[in-house]
Amino acid sequence: MKVRLNNGVEIPIIGLGTFRSKDEEAYNAVLHALKVGYRHIDTAAIYQNEEEVGRAIKDSGVPREEIFVTTKIWNDQQGYMKTKRAFQKSLQRLGLDYVDLCLIHWPKSYEKTAETWRALEDLYYDGFTRAIGVSNFTFHHLEHLFETAEVIPQVNQVETHVRLQNIKLQDFCMQNEIYLEAYAPFMSHYVQELLDDETLQEIAKKYKKTVPQVALRYLVEREIIVLPKSITPSRIAENLKIFDFALSEEDFQTIRKLNRAQKRFPEPDNIDY
Ligand SMILES: NC(=O)c1ccc[n+]([C@@H]2O[C@H](COP(=O)([O-])OP(=O)(O)OC[C@H]3O[C@@H](n4cnc5c(N)ncnc54)[C@H](OP(=O)(O)O)[C@@H]3O)[C@@H](O)[C@H]2O)c1
Repeated sequence: MKVRLNNGVEIPIIGLGTFRSKDEEAYNAVLHALKVGYRHIDTAAIYQNEEEVGRAIKDSGVPREEIFVTTKIWNDQQGYMKTKRAFQKSLQRLGLDYVDLCLIHWPKSYEKTAETWRALEDLYYDGFTRAIGVSNFTFHHLEHLFETAEVIPQVNQVETHVRLQNIKLQDFCMQNEIYLEAYAPFMSHYVQELLDDETLQEIAKKYKKTVPQVALRYLVEREIIVLPKSITPSRIAENLKIFDFALSEEDFQTIRKLNRAQKRFPEPDNIDY
């Protein structure tokens, strides 16, 4: 299933996350994901696996134009020229001549972010990336970006899961035609908490599905693009099987009430990296 971004580019609503997937693990995960039907891979310069991701894409035999590839500009590469250079290095490591989406990984000062955005706009105009976006941006970062941006971001990738549902941020983004992408849809290293949630377990049983599948289905029904990460072949396949059932209104509302505003990653205004 795909959704259409504000510039007309289509993006599969589920993509494989690759944070903390290293070396051959990353290569094997991407290769397996493409084999079982994923057509969207999320990486970043800081994940240090762009070479493996690119190699797996090439070795998969899936035509390049069928795969949606995202990378991100790391914090110490912000600024106009630095971003343009960092982007070209990402392309080289990936072994690609364009990516589908490039994001600013975290917001920095408004001035720095505006400069970085201008570089992404130029890379977009020049055809090096089919879409551009941001990550870890909250309301004020977006509002400031709008003051200088020529291109409105196509997506905002933020931590989103059943315990941190970002209802208001999604409303704000949708009003501005920005799609929300959910990173850490399983609460990342707190995945066990999600798996142990009795409400989700009960709902999952009803649909003969697993807790991770229900957690992803809920986000997809809200039209949020999800990026589950796994290096385990069976889980990679499991996480894709979310399009053959739909949550009842009652179950949807039950999950809606699990929202606790529980953030597992740092607040973007408090990062020290
Ligand atoms: N923009 C940003 O700042 C940012 C930050 C964080 C993440 N991200 C992106 O979002 C992606 C997802 O986030 P994340 O990697 O932090 O965490 P996540 O996807 O929420 O959770 C990953 C964890 O869940 C486990 N898992 C996956 N499928 C499972 C299943 N079906 N059953 C049980 N366990 C399962 C994985 O184990 P195994 O791998 O061992 O199977 C891993 O331990 C990242 O990989 C990255 O691409 C972006």
